[in-house]
Amino acid sequence: MIRGGFARLHTALRRSWPHHGGMRYLVPQSARQSKACSTLESRWFSLTGSRSISSTALGEVVSSEQLGVTQPKVHSGIPIANADERKVSILWSPQSWSRFHNIWLRDHCRCPDCFHPITMQRLVNTFEIPPDIKPIHVQGTTEGLEVVWPGLNTETHSSVYPWDWLQANAYDQPLHTTPDRKVIWGSKIEKSPPSVTYTEVMDDGGKGLYEWLVNIDKFGFCFVSGVPATPEATEELCQRIGFIRESQYGKIWEITADLSMGDTAYTTMALGAHTDNTYFTDPTGIQVFHILSHTEGSGGASLIVDGFYVAGLMKELYPKFHELLSRVPIPAHAAGEPYALYTPSPPAMYPPLRYHPNTGELIQVRWNNDDRSVMNHLAPDEVEEWYEAIRIWNTLLKKPESEYWVQLSPGTVLATNNHRVLHGRSAFDGKRRLCGAYIGIDEYRSKLAVLKEKFEDTVGYGWSKRSGGGTRSVWSRDL
Ligand SMILES: [Fe+2]
Ligand SMILES: [Zn+2]
Repeated sequence: MIRGGFARLHTALRRSWPHHGGMRYLVPQSARQSKACSTLESRWFSLTGSRSISSTALGEVVSSEQLGVTQPKVHSGIPIANADERKVSILWSPQSWSRFHNIWLRDHCRCPDCFHPITMQRLVNTFEIPPDIKPIHVQGTTEGLEVVWPGLNTETHSSVYPWDWLQANAYDQPLHTTPDRKVIWGSKIEKSPPSVTYTEVMDDGGKGLYEWLVNIDKFGFCFVSGVPATPEATEELCQRIGFIRESQYGKIWEITADLSMGDTAYTTMALGAHTDNTYFTDPTGIQVFHILSHTEGSGGASLIVDGFYVAGLMKELYPKFHELLSRVPIPAHAAGEPYALYTPSPPAMYPPLRYHPNTGELIQVRWNNDDRSVMNHLAPDEVEEWYEAIRIWNTLLKKPESEYWVQLSPGTVLATNNHRVLHGRSAFDGKRRLCGAYIGIDEYRSKLAVLKEKFEDTVGYGWSKRSGGGTRSVWSRDL
């Protein structure tokens, strides 16, 4: 329940609050003595047009309704705030509001005493906050929601929460859904596949690197053209994203058809669409491929398939079988080398289609039928249906509308998101030399987030600007 009518309310509160010489706004004496309040104090008192509610000199929280105020009235573009025993309610517009629990607000104070502005780590002792904490005073200002709390170690404590930060983090009546910029694709992507140049990606400014990573985010893959056809240049390119993830195949691995590693990748055989590392608990996030040379033969076209596209088809056309793929885990192994035997932990835990338990969003595809281990955990009455489900999945993966075939040549790098896009190749003959690398999903997401702060927050929330000088703000989006 939110009520406004602040002209009257303000007047009512003015009467009930102590007035100090020169102070125009409604802060109790104790608040002005608070240590944490000192930096906020000057802002607080210099603001004009701020409106305050639900405060008394005794520290009791009084709702505007209790004060007989019933007419919502928004002015000065400052949202209306109201506090009760457990929550602060904010009226963004006559139709839109959010509520924040008192304990949540206190825990999320980002003043320098509660949140370290350099390490970006919480300093407030969450467990010292009384579970029934109530604001002494709540006030909407041009800078945000200002709240005066009973102090934990000081007499009172002041917090300011920017309005855009509150809107972005509203959990009761969420106001912001992160726009999903994924582009789901089929074979038609061949007409205009995403691509950037090596020069752009290597440029110190970072704009080209950002474009590469945004494309991977959108499409699940992106080419880089004009890369020197050497393992060294490929490694430098990978390191623009972050640490390369070393594996049993090496750091920058090189594949020739010599079976130097116990894996079919090291043959001339065709490979059906699959994701790598189904035998890891945490399969690699980004996979980079670069054909360095191919002589004395032909074939070896590269295949990529958007797993999210095929999962969508499956869900639409065969919901019952899709459900099996999203529920029944598939154990896997990498056992071609005598010194290594990889299985995920726990082995039978990960279904090929992993959906977010809360949002229902597809978050990961994990599929390599060649690496599948014994299916000894199937329910007896689901065995035949499960085989039917993977047969349909395989058929949909291999439909011409799903497949994007491309003949890569030296100088063109392909990077895929291994949690989404499956890859494969056709058989070949001759001498083909391919190099590549794995980069963890966290390294990739970290670099993407840093570049997003740099290139997008100027037009987005502007939070990183708030700290000045382009440094990260305590209100930055991912903290
Ligand atoms: Fe592979
Ligand atoms: Zn604080």
